[in-house]
Amino acid sequence: MLDGNPRLNLASFVTTWMEPECDHLIMSSINKNYVDMDEYPVTTELQNRCVNMIAHLFNCPFGEEETAVGTGTVGSSEAIMLAGLAFKRKWQHKRKDQGKPYDKPNIVTGANVQVCWEKFARYFEVELKEVKLTEGYYVMDPVKAVEMVDENTICVAAILGSTLTGEFEDVKLLNELLLKKNEETGWDTPIHVDAASGGFIAPFLYPDLVWDFRLPLVKSINVSGHKYGLVYAGVGWVVWRSKEDLPEDLIFHINYLGADQPTFTLNFSKGSSQIIAQYYQLIRLGLEGYKRIMENCSENAKLVKEALEKTGRFNIVSKDVGVPLVAFGLKDSSNYNVFDVSESLRRFGWIVPAYTMPPNAEHIAVLRVVIREDFSRSLGERLVLDIEKVLKELDSFPSHGTAKAVQVKAAGGGQSSRESDHPVKKSADEMEMEITRYWKRVVDRKKTSGVC
Ligand SMILES: Cc1ncc(COP(=O)(O)O)c(C=O)c1O
Repeated sequence: MLDGNPRLNLASFVTTWMEPECDHLIMSSINKNYVDMDEYPVTTELQNRCVNMIAHLFNCPFGEEETAVGTGTVGSSEAIMLAGLAFKRKWQHKRKDQGKPYDKPNIVTGANVQVCWEKFARYFEVELKEVKLTEGYYVMDPVKAVEMVDENTICVAAILGSTLTGEFEDVKLLNELLLKKNEETGWDTPIHVDAASGGFIAPFLYPDLVWDFRLPLVKSINVSGHKYGLVYAGVGWVVWRSKEDLPEDLIFHINYLGADQPTFTLNFSKGSSQIIAQYYQLIRLGLEGYKRIMENCSENAKLVKEALEKTGRFNIVSKDVGVPLVAFGLKDSSNYNVFDVSESLRRFGWIVPAYTMPPNAEHIAVLRVVIREDFSRSLGERLVLDIEKVLKELDSFPSHGTAKAVQVKAAGGGQSSRESDHPVKKSADEMEMEITRYWKRVVDRKKTSGVC
């Protein structure tokens, strides 16, 4: 009761509403441990069916008689750890066979990657080589990414739906440039697509967008079942292009079921209900159902975006093609900033995170509203009304000296500091102290803003 209201939590991509039938189904299987495959063989079968359906959705080239290679996980983070490990192990085998050193693997990503990639790099001792962002361009530049690839690169990770702005990275161009580089160098650097959010959006809203296994260098893809897969928190998926892309020595084989059941997960026990709920959603909604829900989310995102634009106070940094979210910065942040807006919105129950962009666009700060299935048109109208109320209130307050001394620049607005507006001149020491205090506030708020 003392927590926030999940449906007003616009920070999260994770599902906060399912049909009552799903709630019932989840409750009826909440006591089943997924790993007890001999006791719950049907759950195992449902997981395998989900893997096959998702692999088909991502245009995985496996034959009619074959089953797809993949597994259910607790989320995209676990899925990414597994995919990353497979790349690392495969690269190490190849280097060993060639008699070359295999102790300095690296992975190339954009600086906008979600924290799970940093975790993967640190936990599994892989150097993370990040392509820096620039003002106005908040995703990985494929040209720069391919330039950073060297013989120790285990893979390039592209994001289908950046956590920060929802924008899709250009996997097709990345594939083209990397194919060329591989041809020139003799390497065979592969691609992983982190489709945590976009994996259940692109196939329905943008079927002609080529980002998946249709591209030859894409060897594995992860997706969060608990985001736009429309299941409550606790399910993700990873699919490999073929058996060859998942080194055999990472797979554990159990034969409880009489047949060989390969397992490749980090955790042993986990709940069955999320797997069962995912299967229910895939069957119940089908391609047409998912398409309609994603279209609805996209229309609601458009509505919020247009209403925010109409206020004349914001710059929109999210794109029309991408995850249905709206990321926006203040045009004029001389008296208050996006963190103040975020904080003030909490009074109305809204959780709208504010955050600064990663290097080299740290001076850009934005708010982000994620549109999920349970976000309605009327909630959107209400949100914008409350944002307008908050702005009016903040406008009426005396200006924060700190916000005037140094500003988090409005996204895309190109405003410069308006120190010259200050009637009181400050000493350099005073200014420095204010700047330090200001950044401490920004960092403290960023730590608690819950960007996930
Ligand atoms: C692009 C991206 N990758 C990975 C993750 C981690 O996903 P999960 O919460 O399913 O572990 C997120 C979470 O928001 C994400 O946006």
